[in-house]
Order: sequence, then C-alpha cells, then structure tokens
Amino acid sequence: MPAEVGKGTFYNSITQKAASQHEGLTLARFTSVVLVTSKIKVHPTRSMKTAAALLSAALSVPATLLAASAPVPPPPPLPPNLPMPALPPATPPPVAQLQPPGRAIADAGRFAVALSSLSTSQKADFANGKVEFLNVEDPASGLGPIFNDVSCVACHFQGGAGGASRTTVTRFGRITNGAFDPMTEFGGPLLQRRAIAPQYLEVVPHEATIVIRRITTPLFGAGLIEAIPDATLTTNAATSKPDGIKGKAAIVKDPISGQMHVGRFGWKAQHSSLDGFAADAYLNEIGITSRYFPEENAPNGNKALLAKADKILDPEDALAPGAVKSDLNLAADYMRLLAPVPPANQTAAVVSGQTVFAQTGCANCHTPTLTTGASPIAALANQKVNLYSDLLLHDMGKLGDGMVQGAATEREMRTAPLWGLRLRDVYLHDGRASTLDLAVLAHDGEAKIVRDRYATLPAAKRQALLAFLNSL
Ligand code: HEC
Ligand code: HEC
Repeated sequence: MPAEVGKGTFYNSITQKAASQHEGLTLARFTSVVLVTSKIKVHPTRSMKTAAALLSAALSVPATLLAASAPVPPPPPLPPNLPMPALPPATPPPVAQLQPPGRAIADAGRFAVALSSLSTSQKADFANGKVEFLNVEDPASGLGPIFNDVSCVACHFQGGAGGASRTTVTRFGRITNGAFDPMTEFGGPLLQRRAIAPQYLEVVPHEATIVIRRITTPLFGAGLIEAIPDATLTTNAATSKPDGIKGKAAIVKDPISGQMHVGRFGWKAQHSSLDGFAADAYLNEIGITSRYFPEENAPNGNKALLAKADKILDPEDALAPGAVKSDLNLAADYMRLLAPVPPANQTAAVVSGQTVFAQTGCANCHTPTLTTGASPIAALANQKVNLYSDLLLHDMGKLGDGMVQGAATEREMRTAPLWGLRLRDVYLHDGRASTLDLAVLAHDGEAKIVRDRYATLPAAKRQALLAFLNSL
C-alpha cells in the first residue's frame, strides 16, 4: 500500500480501494490512469458512466465498483495556525456511518418518504429524484476537481436520505476596508476540503480572519417551505412584534429564474428555490457544474491549477437532448416531494410545553404554522406547514456567524425551523450546542429578552418546553 494512503483525500480512498482489489497497483500508476483516461473528452450528459467504464477498463476494476463509492476518509486537518471557533463535541460522524451511502444510509431512514396523495407521475419523480440524491459522483462523472463530498446523501442522512447531520462545511472571509470580504480570489468563501488529486487540495488561506463552520440542515418538508408565498413572509416582516423582535425578509436572486424572491433555505436564507440550492450544492459541495453555474471552483482561486485539473467538459450536469430536467432538477424534485417528519406522541408534558413555548415568546420567531399558496403539485397547495419558523433573518448578536451572505449581514441568521428536531443531535449553525437547553441559552441579539425569560422559567416549565421541542 503506498505511503500516502490514509492521508484523507478522496484520491487516496479510491486508490486504496483499487489497490486493495489489485495488489501491486501503485499510486503513481493509478494517478496516470486517472489523468490519462480523463483526458478523453466525453460529453457528459450523465452518460458519464461511459467514462467510468473507460476508467474501469483501464484499471480492470468493474464499473459498479467505481460507481459504488469508496469509503470517504475524514477531511485533511486544517492548518494549525488559524483562529478556529469551538468545534462541536464530535465533528463529522464516523466514516462507517457514511458508507455505503446507497443502502445503509438511504434505506435505514424511515423518514425518507414522499408526501401523501401524490399522483403516479409525481411518485415516479420522487423515486427518480432519490436516485440522483443518492448518486455517488466520481472524477469521471465530473466530481471535483475540488469538492466536499461525493453525493447529497453523504451529508444529508439523519433519519433517511434528506436528513440533517453534524457534518460541517467550512467558510472563511476577512474584513477589508471595514467591509466583509468573501475572499473569492482565494477560493472563498466556501472551503472545498477534498480533491481528486492531492496537488489540488485547498487550504484555509492564512489571510482569512473569519473561519466558521456550518452543520448540515434537514430537507424533510422542504417543498412545503418552498411553496409559502413571498408575500406571507414580507407581510410578517413588516408586522410589529413584542420583545424587541424585528425580522427581515431575505430578498435574494434565484439562480434558476434570475428573479428576486424571498430566500428561505440555508442558515442565512440564501436561496429561495430548491432547484437553485441544488445547483449551488452540485457546484460547491460536489464540483458538478450546470447550466446555472457553468464554471468550476479554482483551488484557492488558482485558475492555472484548475486548467490542469479539470478534464471534463462543462456543464457536467447537462440537459440530455429533448429533456427539460437535468440531475439537479431531479434532486430538487426529491427534496420537494419529501414529507415532513411527523411529530411524536403528544404527552401531557408536550402539550403543556407547547403553551410554555408560546408564553415565553419563542413563537414570535419560531412561528408554529405558515400556509402554502398555489402550487402545480396538489399535495403542496394551500397546506398548513408546522415548521416553527418565520423564515426571516434576525440579528442574533453574538450568535451571528460573521459571514455576509445573500441578504444576510454578519449577525443575521434565519430562524431555524424546529420541525424534525428530535432526529438531531447537535444544534445551532455550527453545531456548538449538544443539548436543546444549551441551544436556547446561546440565543442573543433580538432573542435576548426571550432567552432571559426562558432562563428564569421554573424548572418544571423548562422541562415541559424541552419535552415539546423533543417531540417535534
Ligand atoms: C459536504 C456536505 C454536503 C453535501 C455534499 C451537500 N450538502 Fe446540502 N447542506 C449542507 C450544509 C452544511 C447545509 C447548510 C448550508 C448553509 O446554510 O450554509 C446544507 C443545506 C442544504 C439545503 C438547504 C436546506 C434548508 O432549508 O436549510 C439544501 C436544499 C441542500 N443542502 C441540498 C443539497 C443537495 C441537493 C445536495 C447534493 C447536490 C447537497 N445539499 C449536498 C451540506 C451538504
Ligand atoms: C429573535 C428570534 C428568535 C427567538 C425569539 C427565538 N429563536 Fe430560536 N432561533 C432563532 C434563530 C435565528 C436560530 C438559528 C441560530 C443559529 O444560526 O445558530 C434559532 C435556533 C434555535 C434552535 C436550534 C435549531 C437548530 O436547527 O439547530 C432551537 C432549539 C431554538 N432556536 C429554540 C428556541 C426556543 C425554545 C426559543 C424560546 C425560548 C427561541 N428559540 C426563541 C431565532 C429565535
């Protein structure tokens, strides 16, 4: 086994797999095979399977083996001399939990179910979309050159394909002339922590003064959130609220339609549509370009290095001739049709906890119910959505993450929807809270008055409130 194996790059993991199948295959040999093979310019309409077949033939490894993912090792450690925030108690889940994504993750989850009363063709959309959500990309299908993981489900898996997880991504930036600078010329603001070959790996640049992490948010019920009309959110934002609470609708440009809409997805409400988020995630998490984001990320902004690394024609996620949907749209369909997590049994404590939640003032941001508007999908039209969020941005004081993103300033964060909370094990944008109690106590800024009220609740009421949160 070559000495480099285990250093923590995808490159090494796939080599490891190939090497274990074919003893004697050296790292150098494998590299040359990958590079030589991927020079063959195949136009990548998902028939990139062709390229995988070529690569596999060169290696004499069955195509199914390359397509089924190799174990994804933990990311390389960040340079030690950086100011890092406190990390969640245990960072990414053990690798064993992530693999194999196809079966263990997807089917173990009992919450990865479709909305009820879908038509036959919508059920087919859900099933086809799930295939894309689970699909493991490899260098031949367009993965990378730099990326964070190999599939959507690799990060979104708790409770089933689409769930949250404590898997984090790293963002960085700095203050230049008094303003937030996303450091795009250094490959910012998102770090891609893996690469198809070690020489392309990104690092957090030493110039960065802000380095933060974000945990993976859940997608159950995402279609219902998408179907809430903009006007509901803007009206809500303009309505006066008690306890010094304000709330701002995040007006952002949807990369799909090019239109301005109210953002509602992501910790900063940075996207308004699921197709828009999917296109962003394909590029920035997996390294798959699309007609909306046709340019690859250059490793730490190094375009010359990118030119060497990028052998696959863009856009990698292309429309097949005559098709109206590419893979990113199919993955968006899956998220759109995912049912919300049903609340657990309503015990007496849960019922009284819900009252305490409202009385304490939590519900002024964590709005229990919003209603969807019209939708071409009947199951999404005019539905009550028990998401426990106003989907607005709030100035959260010290809890803000320092990043300017979409319409959100440094301290502004989207009210996190609380549905499905019982499937989670760490809370808040960087996963800093290992209990719900700690998550509430870390609220600040516009939530300070409500937080202080919570902190002085009699123990029994606090317990009831926590029982309620744990039932969602
Ligand atoms: C490396 C881990 C990782 C991968 C891979 C990944 N995600 Fe995510 N996802 C995240 C994180 C972290 C967030 C929170 C991002 C933020 O707000 O900064 C997120 C948030 C989202 C959201 C917003 C949900 C909400 O309302 O908060 C959507 C939608 C989403 N991801 C879709 C996808 C799709 C589709 C894919 C596959 C193309 C994908 N993700 C791949 C980590 C990942
Ligand atoms: C001013 C609006 C506001 C108020 C009031 C408020 N919250 Fe929050 N809440 C937020 C925001 C914004 C976040 C996301 C914070 C972050 O970025 O980490 C959040 C996050 C949370 C989380 C973590 C969710 C997750 O996905 O990790 C919990 C739990 C929570 N709030 C419970 C409560 C409870 C209970 C109360 C009442 C005692 C309350 N909140 C009051 C705005 C508010």
